[in-house]
Amino acid sequence: MAGLTLKNIIKRYGNAEPTLKGINLDIRDGEFLVLVGPSGCGKSTLLRSIAGLESITSGDLYIGDRRVNDVHPKDRDIAMVFQSYALYPHMTIRRNMAFGLEVRKMPKDEIDRLVAEASQMLGLDEYLDKLPKMLSGGQRQRVAMGRAIVRRPKVFLFDEPLSNLDAALRTQMRVEIRRLHKKLKTTIIYVTHDQVEAMTLADRIAVLSGRDKENGTKNAGYLQQVGTPLELFQRPVNKFVAGFIGSPSMNFLDAKIEVRNGKKCVALEGWDAIDLTQECADAVKDGQELCLGIRPQDVILADASHPANMHVKVDVIETLGWECHVHFKYGEHQFLAVIEAQKLADIKEEQEVGLYVAPEVVHLFNHDEHGTAIAHGGGLKGEPKSSNDADPHFTALNEVIASASDEISDAN
Ligand SMILES: Nc1ncnc2c1ncn2[C@@H]1O[C@H](COP(=O)(O)OP(=O)(O)OP(=O)(O)O)[C@@H](O)[C@H]1O
Ligand SMILES: [Mg+2]
Repeated sequence: MAGLTLKNIIKRYGNAEPTLKGINLDIRDGEFLVLVGPSGCGKSTLLRSIAGLESITSGDLYIGDRRVNDVHPKDRDIAMVFQSYALYPHMTIRRNMAFGLEVRKMPKDEIDRLVAEASQMLGLDEYLDKLPKMLSGGQRQRVAMGRAIVRRPKVFLFDEPLSNLDAALRTQMRVEIRRLHKKLKTTIIYVTHDQVEAMTLADRIAVLSGRDKENGTKNAGYLQQVGTPLELFQRPVNKFVAGFIGSPSMNFLDAKIEVRNGKKCVALEGWDAIDLTQECADAVKDGQELCLGIRPQDVILADASHPANMHVKVDVIETLGWECHVHFKYGEHQFLAVIEAQKLADIKEEQEVGLYVAPEVVHLFNHDEHGTAIAHGGGLKGEPKSSNDADPHFTALNEVIASASDEISDAN
């Protein structure tokens, strides 16, 4: 096992602008690091560079203490699992897993032992003598993983390994990957588009930026933030990370700081204003124009104990089951909230409603090119006083994490 150190990694294809523009990252031994970013931002390029399938243009790459820039891929002690699992169609499942070891001239009884161990771990025993075409997508994905596991590498690289599977299988495989990491404790770098995968699997998430509408590729190819899932969720360093982490995405509204009744607040449309926590108030000036970020899960319908601080009109309600995505019109803006279905029973499209946004769930960003964060409300902390006061996002997130852990312990 080993950690990895990436020092100022730059990767340029031909004469084009570099895809990766100076990546610095320390990945701890045994850590599960999830790499996310928009399509085309260079996630696969970074994984392939670490594996040695691409040469890096400049910078230093260490696996453990060893600089591996010039080390051949097969000598890097890394196993990579791709989105397309590319099994050998004419070989049995057993042979697919054993082949890499045979090529390395490992003794036969050692190969048999490693294949048997991986097969047992992944529940593949009954398929060992079958051909890949006789297996389902999820089973084939497990074989691809088995092929990586038997090599006992120092580092696993996963490039969107579950994206070809349906939702139910993805959930099942996600738990299997967690279980695998718990057992093997090998360093993993895992690329995904899936928010739930990223939040539930990662010890830390690294967010890589891609091109954007205003600046093109100017800000693309940089690591924007590396942190635990909750750090990124609660304290994103800029608008890019704030908008990328969390689903549905954070709402952004233009706003202005005003002083009302001697206290600083964020003024919005009409007379609407949201109070600020001390941390936010200390970071802004009266009259300052900025961007206000609010997560859709952090909005509640106003009631007697939560007086309205935003007055909106219902545009479209999308019912998803126990929760709804409610699209509101707010002046010229669209504003999305995730609200429990039962609370919307009396609410119709085109109706005017009051919303309550707590000071603790406010995120403030500069209007600069990077949308740098100014301050965060800090999130709603402590035990909720009643179910109405529960912060719906964290409840939902904790449920996902708890159910994944339950499944893991049930299975063991
Ligand atoms: N072999 C190559 N030659 C030239 N350009 C390449 C090559 N491979 C990738 N690129 C370019 O590098 C950029 C990053 O590609 P990469 O495949 O790493 O993105 P990604 O983040 O993995 O995207 P996705 O999420 O769609 O898989 C893209 O603009 C792509 O066109
Ligand atoms: Mg890719």
